[in-house]
Amino acid sequence: MLKGKHVILGITGGIAAYKSVSLLRLFVKAGAEVQVVITPAGREFITPVTLSALSGRPVISEFFTANTGAWNSHVDLGLWADAMVIAPATASTIAKMANGVADNMLVTTYLSAKAPVFVAPAMDLDMFAHPSTSRNIELLRSYGNHIIQPAAGELASHLVGKGRMEEPENIFSVVERFFSLSAELAGKKVLVTAGPTYERIDPVRFIGNYSSGKMGYAIAEEFASRGAEVVLVSGPVAITCNHPRIRVISVESATQMCDVAIKEFDGCDVAVMCAAVADYAPEEYVEHKIKREKTDNPVLRLKKNPDIAAKLGELKKGHQLLVGFALETDNETENAKDKIKRKNLDFIVLNSLADKNSCFGVDTNKVTIIERNGDAHRYELKPKKEVAADIVDFIKEKLC
Ligand code: CTP
Repeated sequence: MLKGKHVILGITGGIAAYKSVSLLRLFVKAGAEVQVVITPAGREFITPVTLSALSGRPVISEFFTANTGAWNSHVDLGLWADAMVIAPATASTIAKMANGVADNMLVTTYLSAKAPVFVAPAMDLDMFAHPSTSRNIELLRSYGNHIIQPAAGELASHLVGKGRMEEPENIFSVVERFFSLSAELAGKKVLVTAGPTYERIDPVRFIGNYSSGKMGYAIAEEFASRGAEVVLVSGPVAITCNHPRIRVISVESATQMCDVAIKEFDGCDVAVMCAAVADYAPEEYVEHKIKREKTDNPVLRLKKNPDIAAKLGELKKGHQLLVGFALETDNETENAKDKIKRKNLDFIVLNSLADKNSCFGVDTNKVTIIERNGDAHRYELKPKKEVAADIVDFIKEKLC
């Protein structure tokens, strides 16, 4: 998987820098071309001669090569890379990356890189546990970077705790797995609807629901991480996603979501209808704020919204898969089977209402996948990210 891939190995000033030599060897052995970029502090821990001998390329550390004056272009390097791996990543480098402090070659290269970035923090336990480090790591995660959590164990300070850089073999496996996963659904196009819809009553009020969008976003991210191109049609949510293969189209109402979904469905192999679409919208939109003192006991007349899943079901072609979600309180399987037929779905993912850690707002979910013939596949209560992986695994089997 890594043969011929261009990997930038970023090394910073931590005692774990000696382990970067083993990591470099693993990449080279796997056939990757590795360019080492080391910070000035990193050079205090490990000599560039060892690194250039093993990588077969001069190690880059400064913006200019001192004896020739040649400029080391961080822009070209950033574009050259298929992956950037920063191991060890000190608290200082993580803070610079998180906040765009471009004062060395490694951070400027990071800021120019378009490729996936893997960060393996290494530092003393208290530094790692500090809220500042946690916040910076969260920022990196929000940029779409992959954080390879440090292990717990004896540290250079002889204290015992979390902060040891993950072992080179494990860092290598994470990167290798990333590339093998990215090939799984390469060439496939997926449509995901997520979040609630808001149906306007007047300029300040709407009908909405509690959907956070977390499940739909997790599914979109899982598809993208397997190499699929994803269109995520999202109602108003508080979460964001940052994956180069996900195109987010933000909408507000069910009608807007329906129009976009119909337009995007044509070129897709799969559509996953995860949105909690409002079934009804106010019959009329009131242009001016409804005034309390002028309106006693107002009556809100509602009209039915389009059923997006059913509309896609009508348009579905032979090679396309259409997957619905459902929340049922009783006769789960019968109602799900009826919905599959009514909306021409291929299968439905049933959320369990029985578990309080399932459904709206929480980070976990418990689902059952029901097929057209009634076959039911039950899954345990899991984090939504893992539920998304189960659902994508199931869809992948049906696709191939
Ligand atoms: N759905 C949709 N458009 C709607 C309503 C639902 O696309 N207007 C989709 C949902 O995203 C979900 C599936 O249809 O994938 C089932 O949603 P659900 O609310 O359970 O279905 P309803 O048809 O609204 O049935 P119910 O009478 O149970 O509310």
